[in-house]
Amino acid sequence: MSNTKYSTLVIGGAGYIGSHVVLQLCENGHDVSVFDNLSTGNIINIDSRAKFIKGDILNLDDCKNLFNKKYDIVFHFAALKAAHESMHFPEKYSEVNLKGTINILNQMIKNNIHNIIFSSSAAVYGNPQYLPIDENHILNPNNFYGYTKLAVENLLHWYSNLKNINYGVLRYFNAAGYDLKKRILGLEKKPANLLPIIMETAIGIRSTLQVFGNDYNTKDGTGIRDYIHVLDLADAHIKTMHYILQRNENIIVNLATGKGHSVFDLINTSKIITEKKIDYNVVNRRNGDVESIFAISNFANKKLNWNCNYSDIDTIISSMWELYKHA
Ligand code: WQD
Repeated sequence: MSNTKYSTLVIGGAGYIGSHVVLQLCENGHDVSVFDNLSTGNIINIDSRAKFIKGDILNLDDCKNLFNKKYDIVFHFAALKAAHESMHFPEKYSEVNLKGTINILNQMIKNNIHNIIFSSSAAVYGNPQYLPIDENHILNPNNFYGYTKLAVENLLHWYSNLKNINYGVLRYFNAAGYDLKKRILGLEKKPANLLPIIMETAIGIRSTLQVFGNDYNTKDGTGIRDYIHVLDLADAHIKTMHYILQRNENIIVNLATGKGHSVFDLINTSKIITEKKIDYNVVNRRNGDVESIFAISNFANKKLNWNCNYSDIDTIISSMWELYKHA
């Protein structure tokens, strides 16, 4: 990988994945500015070597002032991401995930900034027609959150053709885990995802965990997902940055392990690692959930020379427990 140092802007860099990417960029000696409204992100997660700019992607003046510097590349993480919530409040998701992104892209064009890495999601695929999923799978989201991610991917395609934007679209599967050296300490506020909820149940700030259905056609009846460590995701962002800036080419890749784990797998492994009971009760399926989804990342392996190093379930859960046990 090249040693060139770049000037980077990380939108949503105080958030869970964004802060891990900021840390990696700083570790690699790049110049990093972080733009965040701190609505869900945590300022203690921002590496002290980065410059912090408080602002909102929905505030046009904030976005206009943001681009008073020539960034080599923009990373865009700022979005609402609870698929279930998006089915009840699509207007919120349109505002933040669509309007907010358009504000950023239009200001990039106005300021001649051509490179962006966009945080997309497995949710763009919807119900799998085959497994493991690859990048050629049909794009047919079955929740509004996934629709907003696909809508931005399509926007990037057009802006690339019409306005010379180079983009990296990274389709995360289920992001989890924390920095193994515990340099990111701010836990997610009001998480909607399974693993942080299991952790909150283990430390007793939640009395019980709801398991959304155990009547799926899977090995134990519960939903299966492809969990990927946030450090592996961060590494993929750095490799994608070098790929785009050295080749001026677009790239769309899955970031996944190729392995699926059930809800009960995670609960049972968490019980062993935390040595806590972790009570749960099985309730109805959650609207918008798919039964089973996991993917291969051959494109990322080949084009980015990227592989997972931390995404085994034990490492993911242990790295979370190291923080939650002191929460
Ligand atoms: C995982 C499994 C649930 C909570 C989300 C969003 C989006 C995307 C990926 C980035 C499912 C079950 C969950 C609970 C449960 N991220 N579950 N009880 O829905 O696969 O995807 O993360 O783009 O954020 O789409 O993640 O962690 O919510 O659910 O039983 O309290 O755990 O049914 O089978 P999901 P999740």
